Amino acid sequence: MSKTIIITGGAGFIGSHVVRLFVTKYPEYKIINVDALTYAGNLENLVDIEGQPNYIFEKANILDAPTIKAIFEKYNASDVIHLAAESHVDRSILSPMDFIYTNIAGTVNLLNIAKEHWKKDMEGHRFYHVSTDEVYGTLGAEGLFTETTPYSPNSPYSASKAASDHFVRAYGETYHLPFVITNCSNNYGPNHFPEKLIPLFINNIINNKPLPVYGKGENTRDWLFVIDHARAIDVVFHHGKDKETYNVGGFNEWKNLDLVKMMCSLMDEKLGRPPGTSEQLITYVKDRPGHDLRYAIDATKINKELGWEPSVTFEEGLSKTIDWYLQNTEWLQHVTSGDYQKYYQTQYSNR
Ligand code: NAD
Ligand code: TYD
Repeated sequence: MSKTIIITGGAGFIGSHVVRLFVTKYPEYKIINVDALTYAGNLENLVDIEGQPNYIFEKANILDAPTIKAIFEKYNASDVIHLAAESHVDRSILSPMDFIYTNIAGTVNLLNIAKEHWKKDMEGHRFYHVSTDEVYGTLGAEGLFTETTPYSPNSPYSASKAASDHFVRAYGETYHLPFVITNCSNNYGPNHFPEKLIPLFINNIINNKPLPVYGKGENTRDWLFVIDHARAIDVVFHHGKDKETYNVGGFNEWKNLDLVKMMCSLMDEKLGRPPGTSEQLITYVKDRPGHDLRYAIDATKINKELGWEPSVTFEEGLSKTIDWYLQNTEWLQHVTSGDYQKYYQTQYSNR
């Protein structure tokens, strides 16, 4: 069956991989990438597919109701996959209001427009909300987040994502909007903006700059290759049950310091530097306020019910990711000029 899918945030890190997968795998679908092109949005992420006949880009802010409504009408959108968001915890600590506007008000705006557009018959439509495991708060040394773990967000970012998840669910109950939500663990891979741990440290190792490890480096994250997240979105979009939540993760926990040491040794090898060179760049800096100790996802439900599992081991994925950054120095240069330098100063100069 043919569909016209609005993918919001399609010029960002995860969104660009989702857009590519849907455009190439489903030539019978029309894919409308709606993105405001904030600092994190970059059409260079999609140059390989921009000429495809089933792909359209619309530059628009999800807060701009008349423009978003006009896009729904122009293409008669049948479905939404919603990824547009402010996505970085450290920026949410510096400037929480941006997160409230885009992540909460922007999501509610989209929900309103989708509900109005589909009101004659909700059947066959789907509002797919892409969320994060950070809504569950933090774990101690034991346990995993399941779909029934109570929400307990600790950062302005995770609080804004939690609020948006609640609104999606409320629109399902109140207005019968057909929805599905996934809560995914930390992603890594090509096209990741170098403000997050893995791409920031790859860029700093390339440039022989300090690697600012927050606190003692004991915080733990569960890492998933971005292409496996896009594959999960494909599976849940097509086969997930209405009104359900699915957790997505790789059963792949790493303490930050262990991960950073592995990156250092892989990069020494790839850059032809003597072993131990990059580790000397590790610098312990002031901890992030409200820093969640540990995230870890129980991805049993999506595996058992929908048959999804990661396709790439962490060692393979990390090696591919580093190779991508080493081969795409122009991309890195473009995204680290201008405003990035200002952000870096603000975030790291007083730590
Ligand atoms: P990103 O910051 O790389 O990209 C966000 C995209 O949204 C950018 O292209 C940006 O231009 C666009 N955008 C931002 N504000 C907008 C607005 N007001 N209107 C229209 N477009 C706007 O983010 P990402 O890491 O690709 O994350 C995508 C989604 O996945 C987010 O909803 C995030 O919460 C969720 N998520 C991310 C991770 C992760 O590890 N990165 C993990 C789980 C869930
Ligand atoms: P990040 O990539 O920002 O993802 P999130 O906070 O959403 O999990 O950070 C991953 C981990 O790395 C987190 O524990 C914070 C830590 N971190 C550092 O130690 N130094 C840094 O410069 C950054 C950006 C993150």
